[in-house]
Amino acid sequence: MIDPAPPPPARSKRGRLELIGLRKSYDTHVAVDRLDLTIEAGEFFTILGPSGCGKTTTLMMLAGFTEPTSGSIRLDGVPITRQAPQERNIGVVFQSYALFPHMTVGGNLAFPLEMRDVPPADIARRVQAALDLVRLPVADRLPAQLSGGQQQRVAVARAVVFDPPVLLMDEPMGALDAKLRTHLQVELRRLQQRLGITVVHVTHDQDEAMAMSDRVVIMNDGKVEQIGRPKDLYERPASLFVARFLGENNLLEARATSEPNRIVTAGGLTLECPAHGFAPGSPLSATLRPERLSLRPGHPGGGLPGVLADSVYLGAKTIHTVDVPGLGALTVQVQNGTEDSPPPPGASVTVMYRPDDLRLFPAP
Ligand SMILES: Nc1ncnc2c1ncn2[C@@H]1O[C@H](COP(=O)(O)OP(=O)(O)O)[C@@H](O)[C@H]1O
Ligand SMILES: [Mg+2]
Repeated sequence: MIDPAPPPPARSKRGRLELIGLRKSYDTHVAVDRLDLTIEAGEFFTILGPSGCGKTTTLMMLAGFTEPTSGSIRLDGVPITRQAPQERNIGVVFQSYALFPHMTVGGNLAFPLEMRDVPPADIARRVQAALDLVRLPVADRLPAQLSGGQQQRVAVARAVVFDPPVLLMDEPMGALDAKLRTHLQVELRRLQQRLGITVVHVTHDQDEAMAMSDRVVIMNDGKVEQIGRPKDLYERPASLFVARFLGENNLLEARATSEPNRIVTAGGLTLECPAHGFAPGSPLSATLRPERLSLRPGHPGGGLPGVLADSVYLGAKTIHTVDVPGLGALTVQVQNGTEDSPPPPGASVTVMYRPDDLRLFPAP
């Protein structure tokens, strides 16, 4: 069911959002703490972070359903902080879809247009266009008669039927199974590009964030940890939190030495690393991604000599655990090919790493 997307129609850029010192507190609890960020027109922007970090609160402040404690929001240069939700003309897909259960799909889609006093003849045409956009030929059904994936499409269609410059989506695929999610990720991304709309998308699913977004902000406890393209966040995490939140990482406790390219682990093992600016003796946390490591049989010299503790075969890859004296257990992920099978548990192996793959952070 994947047809080639037509080239996006040329349109003036609109939908630039500026969040300036945006803050929301509940009594003494700060849900969102002085958020400063700009989302460019036409960008697919994702807010990613663990449960409770302030994602929904941020989105609801953009939508106008939650009043900020302080700070402001601009849409295409116009302050909208004090505007009611309907005045902002922003499309919203809620976590629960929030479809009107007693209205048909067509009725759900017509509603935002009726609210805006669109002439009835135009309403029919625009509802049909929105249904075509999400490929849903079921205008006369009630939401309860649809699958979860179809309800999600109705919610998206309803959010864009009035041609808003910005679409906000809170965990839009949270209730769907993994396979359908992957499919809808591609569809949503395509729809966004076809409409040239700015999307602000909230998720706690890192794969979803990486797959869909131009840029991602990672939030932690109401604050920004890092903003960047998915690849930048994965390859160049700015904090230990980001390094640990995105993908898998081996975490090593270490100290800086007087040599800029060496650290020493808590267990006394010296590792080469990228040049660091830490004072000698500073406690550090170092990370090494399992997929950047490789295994060699025996202890031929170099690398990190150890003993293979176990190997878990997962089809496309195998996850090895290696006990390295002076360092502890290291996870090594190896892409499976047709080559040799791994050594048995208990065998001597050496973990090979590239110093450039080590990331260093001040110990928390
Ligand atoms: N209406 C509210 N009253 C009090 N605390 C709230 C309210 N809404 C959210 N919070 C708190 O603010 C924090 C952020 O919540 P939320 O934005 O929903 O997080 P997320 O969407 O990232 O899971 C949480 O600690 C939550 O308990
Ligand atoms: Mg939430």
